[in-house]
Amino acid sequence: MQFSLTTQSIETLNVHTLVVAAFKGRGSACELTEAAQQLDAACDKRLCEAIADEGFAGRTGEILVLHRLAGVAARRVVVLGFGERKTLDAARFVKTLTGWAAKNRAPQAALALTEVLPDGLDEVWAARTAARVVTFSSSRPVLLKTEREKTPELDSCLWVAPERNDDVARALETGRICGQALLWAKNLQELPPNICTPEYMARTARTLTQGRGAAKGLTIEVLDRKAIEKRGMGGLLAVSSGAQTDPVFIELAWRGAAAKDAPVVVVGKGITFDAGGISLKPARNMDGMKFDMSGAASALALVKAAADMKLAQNVTALVPCCENLPSGSATRPGDVITTASGKTVEVLNTDAEGRLILADALTRAADLNPAVCIDVATLTGACITALGSSMSGLFCEDAKLTEELCRAGSTSADAVWPLPMGGDYRAMLESAAADLANIGNAPQAGASVAASFLAEFAPKCPWAHLDVAGTANSMGFKKEGFARPLPLLLEWILAREPSGKNAGGKKRRTGK
Ligand code: BES
Ligand code: MN
Ligand code: ZN
Repeated sequence: MQFSLTTQSIETLNVHTLVVAAFKGRGSACELTEAAQQLDAACDKRLCEAIADEGFAGRTGEILVLHRLAGVAARRVVVLGFGERKTLDAARFVKTLTGWAAKNRAPQAALALTEVLPDGLDEVWAARTAARVVTFSSSRPVLLKTEREKTPELDSCLWVAPERNDDVARALETGRICGQALLWAKNLQELPPNICTPEYMARTARTLTQGRGAAKGLTIEVLDRKAIEKRGMGGLLAVSSGAQTDPVFIELAWRGAAAKDAPVVVVGKGITFDAGGISLKPARNMDGMKFDMSGAASALALVKAAADMKLAQNVTALVPCCENLPSGSATRPGDVITTASGKTVEVLNTDAEGRLILADALTRAADLNPAVCIDVATLTGACITALGSSMSGLFCEDAKLTEELCRAGSTSADAVWPLPMGGDYRAMLESAAADLANIGNAPQAGASVAASFLAEFAPKCPWAHLDVAGTANSMGFKKEGFARPLPLLLEWILAREPSGKNAGGKKRRTGK
């Protein structure tokens, strides 16, 4: 996929498909953008005629297709409705463009969307977001079917703008890289658990640092079982003890700033299959537990994108990876383990495994003296109960980081909602046998109790925990990876860039 900026006059663009925007007007009327009006003038009002004939009103996601308009060089014109102009937000922009891109069969398109700007966001944001969304939703899924449908994919896309702007041209490339990172994470998420094993995760992460095109400054270290034992990562060892596969601990680092610059550390839960262990899960929908490595996929993909964009920051992903399976060697409910931090944990439920491997990873994060630490995990069913599938749970006691993540969540259409932890929730983890138990003494507030467990191990820097159990993937029949919260993480890390060039929206430095 390739994106470029053009300032060519809209009616002369010799492309397969030209996309222009319209908004919902009063009643059943529609409000054309200036670009659409220019096109209408070039084709002797045929566009407005068609709009009237079809009763096109510019509602969100509404599409009108016109073929070979006289006076217009493009073969097809797509009028895309974005709903009411004044209430347009990032989420509707993304949803509308995704709807078009997912259905699109054109190999080549031009997008005239510079006037489609949600309040407070600029063309840099729009170009970046469009390139990201189009890249992500134009690609067909990698399926392991022996007979493959051959559906055409979009391979080149123009951004039609009234004038040249280097920041916008750069934003297209930034967005393309973000879209590629999202696809990379999604494809990894969707692999079946017999293929996507801990060792496969390590191998896949390693390929990012090897071969042509691998960014200099991107390095990997993979701890094997022996190294994991040496570091005393008792959480990771306990969770993996029922499986035939060995655990791995992946450290993928992008060095884009001076070595002394404190890194952003992103920890990702990498359970490649969560059967629950001895506290076995019910059979129904258990196959969905292949997605329990979604946090890991987002963390690794963030570092890949940071390297591809050559960000001027140090970013490290820490990914503990293993399977949670029952067997004669599995951890028993009641076992007491010692984590890498030295703290002991009474494992009362082996299905609360994510927090055990994350505890060790957070301890390792502290060694790196991070500027900020964020962990990402499909951690609790309780978070799905609380927030459903539209928002991820955000647990953070640092006001500035909370604000940054909430903002990045809304401008990337990958929303989060703050939830509490600590205090009474922490008290629910008291154990008679060890420093703490791995589940609460009551079934309520499971997401907050889990976050409070992690807080015991978090490094002493601004730290946030994102529970993406409900947002990282779809549940239903066609189980699909969404690579959330990667859009949020990408938006957040771009806003941290010292130059501020990539950020779009309000121009400001959010630095350390
Ligand atoms: N991976 C699951 C959480 C999960 C559940 C993700 C459903 C996506 C969909 C996690 O390891 C788990 O099993 N959590 C338990 C914790 C409980 C035993 C305290 C849960 O939420 O039921
Ligand atoms: Mn579990
Ligand atoms: Zn799990």
